[in-house]
Amino acid sequence: MSSHASAIPEAFLAKWQNTTNVMAGIFDVPAGLIMRVLPEQIEVLVSSDSEGNPYEADEKAQLNTGLYCETVMATRGLLHVPNALEDEHWRCNPDVALNMISYLGVPLLWPDNEVFGTICVLDSKTRNYQHRYVELLWEIKKSIERDFVLMEQKEQLEASNAELRLSMLQQEAFSLKLAQSNQDLHAALMRLTSLQDELLRSEKMAALGAVVAGISHELNTPIGNSLLAASTLQSRAADFAREMERGLTRSRMQEFVGTVEQGAGILMRSLDQAAKLVGSFKQVADEQAADGRRRFDLGEMVRNVLLELDEAISDSGDRVVCSIGPGIQMDSYPDQLGQVLTQLIANAVQHAFLPGLAGTVTIAAEQDGNGHVAITVRDDGLGIPQDNLARVFDPFFTTRMGKGGSGLGLHIVYKLVTSTLHGSVEVSSAEGAGACFTVTLPMSAPVALRKPDRAPLAPPIL
Ligand SMILES: Nc1ncnc2c1ncn2[C@@H]1O[C@H](COP(=O)(O)OP(=O)(O)OP(=O)(O)O)[C@@H](O)[C@H]1O
Ligand SMILES: [Mg+2]
Repeated sequence: MSSHASAIPEAFLAKWQNTTNVMAGIFDVPAGLIMRVLPEQIEVLVSSDSEGNPYEADEKAQLNTGLYCETVMATRGLLHVPNALEDEHWRCNPDVALNMISYLGVPLLWPDNEVFGTICVLDSKTRNYQHRYVELLWEIKKSIERDFVLMEQKEQLEASNAELRLSMLQQEAFSLKLAQSNQDLHAALMRLTSLQDELLRSEKMAALGAVVAGISHELNTPIGNSLLAASTLQSRAADFAREMERGLTRSRMQEFVGTVEQGAGILMRSLDQAAKLVGSFKQVADEQAADGRRRFDLGEMVRNVLLELDEAISDSGDRVVCSIGPGIQMDSYPDQLGQVLTQLIANAVQHAFLPGLAGTVTIAAEQDGNGHVAITVRDDGLGIPQDNLARVFDPFFTTRMGKGGSGLGLHIVYKLVTSTLHGSVEVSSAEGAGACFTVTLPMSAPVALRKPDRAPLAPPIL
């Protein structure tokens, strides 16, 4: 045990010194000793301050030399030698050389029963001790052994105190580290936030770039056509002016009027297309004005929309069926909802069916009993390829590029539904099995207290 080797605290040594002094006095001997065994040696740990004592504290003697104490430690029992000179066995022991011819000693044991050493009294004359002296020596031995227990407890206490202090220090270091990593985390978060802001800014710039590119591309055709028509008219007018000086025939004049009419026609159509495009761009860019709110019957409103579209639909040969019965009362914006349905029906007619193969578009509505109605516009046409499904609501996404499609129709639908009408729109489709757009709306549109936030570009897909 490690504590057996450690130094004895001063306080205990002082106490044992007193005990040993008193003991030597009571026994009336020159030497009262507490001996401690060391590896290979034995040391005088405490020696009584009495006259004629030949032993000094810290003195050491070799073991295996036939000392009285060696026998006590080996037998772990009491040894009484009244007079060594009269005893064959003890006559030559080293203490006799110091004239210490009588000995009474008992072993001192650690709490774990390991030998500590001895406690003994020595005298230069023959001594036969009465039994009560022997008992007294045992009591002193027990008292010192109780001190060993205390010593060990103190040592353990100090060790656990040191451990406690160490773990407190570790805790403090850990707290410091934690605070540091919290700081690091905070700094990382700040960096991330600013990075995110930057990303958002650059994403917005990229989106703006795409919009500008889309607008330029769309306006290019009508403006180019207008320019061509105007410059043709200009050069024809110059020719005509020169010919006028030479005199004109009636047929030449008729030809010129025809040219002007044709050029003006091209100009009108192109500029009309450009104006319509600008109108669509405006609708995409501006917050939608939420006006025209009123109560209306949904079925009735849808049938009115179909009447207006009648000509365009019957031209295509397709059928549009409305299965919405009367009685779904709404308090919302019928003009905007009409615009949404017009776009969805026009798309079905334009995109869903192959030329010459008429199809059917069905409009239905279902209330959820919780103040909402889901309006579906379903066709039995070609459907939308999976890859395109996520993009159909993006501005300028069209599969009719250069054939009159601007790709703004569904984006306007999305904006109207999510902002003015406070609803949501989803699309589902399986290729070859038609497409179905579902517009879910509150039957009573909430009153907008503030301008709604701009709608995000990509809506969810079923
Ligand atoms: N019912 C449908 N069936 C198949 N494809 C559809 C249907 N509705 C929309 N699409 C696809 O979604 C694309 C985007 O539609 P959107 O209305 O936004 O633009 P567009 O119709 O092409 O052009 P615009 O509406 O400006 O005339 C279409 O080009 C088409 O590919
Ligand atoms: Mg469209």
